[in-house]
Amino acid sequence: MTQAMKIAIVDDEKDMRQSISQWLALSGFDTETFPSAEDALKGLNADYPGVVISDIKMPGMDGMAFLKKLMSMDSALPVIMITGHGDVPMAVEAMRIGAYDFLEKPFNPDAMTNLAKKATQRRRLTLDARALRRDLGDGTTIMKKLIGASPVMERLREDILDIAQTDGHVLIDGETGTGKTLVAHALHAVGAKAGRNFVVVPCAGKDEDELGRQLFGPMNEGGQQPFVEEARGGTLVLEDIEALPNGLQARLLAWINQQGTPAETRVVAISNLQEQGKTVEDSLRSDLFYRLAAMKITLPPLRQRGEDILMLFTRLADQFADEYGCAAPGITAQEAAQLLQAPWPGNIRQLTNIAERAVLQSRRGSGTISSLLMNDHDEVQPVMTTEGKPLKEYVEAFERMLIDNTMRRHKGSIVGVMDELLLPRRTLNEKMAKYGLQRSDYL
Ligand SMILES: Nc1ncnc2c1ncn2[C@@H]1O[C@H](COP(=O)(O)OP(=O)(O)OP(=O)(O)O)[C@@H](O)[C@H]1O
Ligand SMILES: [Mg+2]
Repeated sequence: MTQAMKIAIVDDEKDMRQSISQWLALSGFDTETFPSAEDALKGLNADYPGVVISDIKMPGMDGMAFLKKLMSMDSALPVIMITGHGDVPMAVEAMRIGAYDFLEKPFNPDAMTNLAKKATQRRRLTLDARALRRDLGDGTTIMKKLIGASPVMERLREDILDIAQTDGHVLIDGETGTGKTLVAHALHAVGAKAGRNFVVVPCAGKDEDELGRQLFGPMNEGGQQPFVEEARGGTLVLEDIEALPNGLQARLLAWINQQGTPAETRVVAISNLQEQGKTVEDSLRSDLFYRLAAMKITLPPLRQRGEDILMLFTRLADQFADEYGCAAPGITAQEAAQLLQAPWPGNIRQLTNIAERAVLQSRRGSGTISSLLMNDHDEVQPVMTTEGKPLKEYVEAFERMLIDNTMRRHKGSIVGVMDELLLPRRTLNEKMAKYGLQRSDYL
């Protein structure tokens, strides 16, 4: 259901605004009238769900000044100006400032209705496009990308939402492929700086001069503006912060200090060092480290996420299956065990890759997940290990995955699943309830 578009009618002559209003109300518009530009400005805003019709000659703020104000508030707002008969220069000037169109007095009511229709249609398109952009830019979409139900993931989601509300700088560390860049993005998208610029700067692999110029300027003539300028008011992400040379660390610190608090631009520093058993604290000057690490997010390696591994695999495989228009591959018990115990040095990136290859493979009708894992890791240990987490966690994750998979293959047939897993109905029902699995999802 679409809501009727509004029309704001601004005219100092009462008879005039009332007759326009009555006519347009008859045509199905939701009208409101204002006796002066000053009054109208109080009732209008940048996302006004409608259009404006305004007279030009008014005491106080005249129509031209009013139009300019409206354009600076929302340059896409359609404004129709009412001009005196034959007042061509005035009409031309209004169009130049940004009026949508003009109506010449005395005007033909049908022409006015038509113009109002066109203008409101245009307005609706503009507002829809804006809503869509906000939706994309807003955090919901990106938070949905963060798959995982393990306690670590739940904590991570809460941390992101909490930290996003503050305006301090953030340090994110973790092994490669654990989602550091994705989390930086989420912090931006759910925070107050959403919609502002999000600028990612890789610090590794560049010489000090080049990186310094890219970050702080001066740029060559005709070049882009420096990253700190581009990110102004938004988020500046520094990838591989540990690779920032000493000289630039000093300049970064100076730039951060000169911003004061609250900082206009948020810095999110990302470090990969964890992998080599070092910490970012060792490679940054300590004053810079403390400025950046006021808030810290550490992403756990995939092998410590237990139950998430299977959930991630299943969800990612489903997504790829959707994309490629085929069925997601079923996983055998043995494959599930292998997914759980694989070392995952490339973390979620590697898992994503395996899930995609598994889908492509099953579409061709060949290959197994085990063979993919074999190729990826030099060796896959033949037995399940319980290193670093309770056996119960593995077992439960495994059980959930197995029931989920079997339900899929049997398209929700409880009897089929009972038969295959040799489970009494009551136990199956209890386990499904425990793991939040619903038969209706498989039909
Ligand atoms: N919790 C998650 N759920 C789903 N996908 C994820 C999750 N975390 C990361 N990913 C995906 O995994 C891939 C790697 O994530 P990302 O690039 O953020 O990792 P990274 O830690 O920045 O890696 P690197 O250190 O190599 O830069 C991306 O495709 C990302 O979308
Ligand atoms: Mg990254």
